[in-house]
Amino acid sequence: MGEFKHQHTADLSASLTCSTMSLGVEQLDAWIDDSSALKPVLHTDHQTIDDSMKILLMKLLVKALHGASNFDPVILMAEELLTEKPKCIYLHYALGTAFSKNKENDKAIYHCQRFIDTLPEERDVKFKDDNLAMVHNNLAVCLKNAGFFDRAEANFQSALNIDDTFAAAHNNYGNLLNDQARINEAQESFLKAIDLDPEDHIAYWNLHSTATSSLQAQAIIETCISKSPTDEIALFTLAGLQAFEGNTHAFEELIRFGFGEEPLVRSIAWILSLPESPTIHFNRWALYDHAISLAPRSRPFYEFGVWMGDSFKYLVPKFSEGFGFDTFQGLPENWGVVPKGAYSSMGRVPEIQNSQFFIGEFEKTLPAFFSERREKAGLINFDADLYSSTITALNNAKPIIDDQTVIVFDEFIVNSHWENDEYRAFLEFCDANGYAFKVDAVSLFTKQVICRIKS
Ligand SMILES: C[S@@+](CC[C@H](N)C(=O)[O-])C[C@H]1O[C@@H](n2cnc3c(N)ncnc32)[C@H](O)[C@@H]1O
Repeated sequence: MGEFKHQHTADLSASLTCSTMSLGVEQLDAWIDDSSALKPVLHTDHQTIDDSMKILLMKLLVKALHGASNFDPVILMAEELLTEKPKCIYLHYALGTAFSKNKENDKAIYHCQRFIDTLPEERDVKFKDDNLAMVHNNLAVCLKNAGFFDRAEANFQSALNIDDTFAAAHNNYGNLLNDQARINEAQESFLKAIDLDPEDHIAYWNLHSTATSSLQAQAIIETCISKSPTDEIALFTLAGLQAFEGNTHAFEELIRFGFGEEPLVRSIAWILSLPESPTIHFNRWALYDHAISLAPRSRPFYEFGVWMGDSFKYLVPKFSEGFGFDTFQGLPENWGVVPKGAYSSMGRVPEIQNSQFFIGEFEKTLPAFFSERREKAGLINFDADLYSSTITALNNAKPIIDDQTVIVFDEFIVNSHWENDEYRAFLEFCDANGYAFKVDAVSLFTKQVICRIKS
């Protein structure tokens, strides 16, 4: 999630995975300082720009990467120069980096790919070689965020083929593997990243998502905090995990020191306020396995918000059949800092056995679908993020929900505005229908919950 304030987050994804965009600031600084780069050479071909321009551009980029300005000046300059020099790798490098930092995935993917595909003129070969692994890594992160997992994997592998000691690429590759339910491989990648850079707290943070018990997760998060004692997300999470086990001291201290308004702390407080303690999970697949184990599996599976079909593919084989609903065009409105259109699969509908997909806005497709009698749901995955979409899905799905139906919400807690999103929709739905509910499980890392209506 973009708005979750953890440094190095470069992710639109639904969990707190931290991907590291390799920015190569030191490398760029060294390049700028290198006097050979300052030799005035006049270029007449269309592949490259003058050295003075390269240096100016890289200085603007470094300034933005250091946070001393935004990326607008870099983008303005590079886009203007690009009209004259469409094959200049410096311009594609600058734009790929700037757009990936701005989380403009499509544009970042385009320019990173152009950097990779363009054959540079001879004097630019070294710049390309020096930065190629980094650009493959950044491209892979953007592709992962856009849901193109296969292309992302190929680019992580290219980055690691060039430089197997690239710790950030191992770490980011771990996040991709985690997103694909390849937890053991993800764990291996995080451990490689830690081996290569034992001081990087982010790899420990990500590693905790592969934990299978709270004690294991706590031990990993403690190491993460020892590497970065000011990592608030890790500190809050650890305090929460301790509190869930009855040791509320650290959590009470957080409240006493004024952190009570932090969204993660508010989420922990909500979990602590529940009448029965839910099971705590650390990744979405463990939470799904738990949901499956609670659900009546002779019934169908329903999903509101399918995107590329990753959760659908994992869940549907466990049920009699599956029904998925989506425009396949992404979010219909802005969601916090996540822009309208995010999570678009550009109209592509997944092909999954034993499944039917209903394409269009919930407001249109659901009344028609539920105008017929439908079988009660074994499991429903509500994954449309927005309050408006979730309340529409809940209200329409009422006839298929009973006290055996396992309800998973994908973005229930932790986001800065979580009380106004799926949480609000579910509470209003329960209120309107006189339902009480039980929370069976939660995952702070992935923001998910499992609920069941009480009879
Ligand atoms: C976060 S993605 C779903 C991710 C997917 N379940 C997974 O785990 O891979 C959210 C999806 O909800 C869809 N969506 C949101 N609001 C919608 C609405 N009102 N009608 C139809 N689709 C909607 C978007 O198109 C997007 O594909």
